[in-house]
Amino acid sequence: MELPLIPAPATAATHEGVLAVTSATGVLVESAGLAGIAARFTEDVRIDSGISLSLGGEAASGPHIRLQIDDSGLDSTSPASGLRADGKATTGDADERHGLQITDKGARVWGSTKEAVFRGLTTLRQLISTHAQDGVAELPAARIVDGPRFAWRGLSLDVVRTFHEPATVRRVIDMCALHKLNVLHLHLTDDQGWRIEVLSRPSLTGIGALGAADDRPGGFYTQADIAGLVAYAAESFVTVVPEIDMPGHATAAIAACPELASPDAASIDLGDGNTFELKCLDPARDETWAFVEDVLDAVVPQFPQSAYLHIGGDEAFGMPDEAHAAFVERTATLVRARGKRVVGWQEIARAAIGRDDVVQYWMAAGEIESAGDTLGAMVPPALLPVLLDNLSKAKHDVPSARARGAQLLVSPSTWLYFDRPHADASSDPDQEAARARLGMQLYPPTSIRSGVEWDPVDDTPEVLGDDEIVGVEAAVWCETLADDSALELMLLPRLAALAEKGWAQRHPTEWDAYAARLGRQSVAWRRRDWNWFRSVEVDWA
Ligand code: ACM
Repeated sequence: MELPLIPAPATAATHEGVLAVTSATGVLVESAGLAGIAARFTEDVRIDSGISLSLGGEAASGPHIRLQIDDSGLDSTSPASGLRADGKATTGDADERHGLQITDKGARVWGSTKEAVFRGLTTLRQLISTHAQDGVAELPAARIVDGPRFAWRGLSLDVVRTFHEPATVRRVIDMCALHKLNVLHLHLTDDQGWRIEVLSRPSLTGIGALGAADDRPGGFYTQADIAGLVAYAAESFVTVVPEIDMPGHATAAIAACPELASPDAASIDLGDGNTFELKCLDPARDETWAFVEDVLDAVVPQFPQSAYLHIGGDEAFGMPDEAHAAFVERTATLVRARGKRVVGWQEIARAAIGRDDVVQYWMAAGEIESAGDTLGAMVPPALLPVLLDNLSKAKHDVPSARARGAQLLVSPSTWLYFDRPHADASSDPDQEAARARLGMQLYPPTSIRSGVEWDPVDDTPEVLGDDEIVGVEAAVWCETLADDSALELMLLPRLAALAEKGWAQRHPTEWDAYAARLGRQSVAWRRRDWNWFRSVEVDWA
């Protein structure tokens, strides 16, 4: 019998017997340091399943769920490949491998670290929510030994085109946690807005944060907001990685600090009354480097858990290649000098980067060839050569990154850009109407099925083994996603597919079995009031 879990566990055997989990079931902490995650688990089960477990266990008249720090029997699963965003070791203090044993007498969750036990409790959470009915969850007796395929399993969230309030970001962190994702990459700056407080540069938020895409309200995160989000994510063992996008995608910074770019930077007449400005941070100006240092000095300390700072580096339209490379190299040096490692979009591979740097592959190889035709029909003719120039260089980025010994984070737009329109029909008429509006029309729509029928290693050029990538990260850009409801409709159920690709050791994913597991996950989503896309290809519980 296949357990209704996403991601699928590495090994799971079911046995005769049933454990009835009810409000009489106790949660018993048997090792020091696990009280916090026990409380969190109890609260999550109450929300997901309507069952109020008895925390502490003494008062419980029924069976116990026992939590233990213990590494026995876990070696049958390999340690995760790749790198963690918090820089910790996957075989050491951040080993996520864990065990879960369920018998008719109780359950035991164990692992060598707190994080491992948390991941095991997440599995138990999913089992309880998918079996709960009227206050009782009858779980099959089972033994699961599990651990992630990749160390870096992330989501990049665009908080610029739409400014997402901290409460929304917390909901997204909750979605990540339920799917055993462990990185939230915040895309904090772009052309339409600057979203993070830099006390030494008040104009960045005073001016740069005023707008968003279209006529949506602007906004920014104060230092207290960021501290709250970082701490909230850490409770679920999610590392928040900040991105400051430079030297392109920097119009909001330049609006706030006009001295960062030439006043007569070129612009393209789009022919519809609008212009597209080819404005990038100018590396030839001293003011630019004072700015970069001020920003890094302000941002780095706000993300103590992250070993990385994301420097963007993508689509520096209008900038000569040499200037772009020089910008990336100098910025990378400044980041490293502040004790962080560098991650950047794949264009940073065009600069002299090194072994510790992470290159985020996004321009999917299979689409570069056809992009000219698609773009030609979608973008103003004057803009086309600028976009095609970047695309024509893109095919060299992964080989260059590998030749330089840099690390590769896999985010191909084909499967991992969650702002693609949905190809599946929805069983909900309101969602059918929304489907026509949501997602970048530039992209061909994608089905839920296609989201699991690919592989991060097999489908990445040049890459031959799991140990050649750091992991996977999806991105959700919010040009067309103006509110929580729209955002969630793109995140769910796609986040589940991301989890399957990032965690599950068994691959390829078999669609029918996956769809059956997926359908049952929606019980918890409904109880959490998360909006998900009701694809007609899945039987939702
Ligand atoms: C990107 O989509 N410009 C990274």
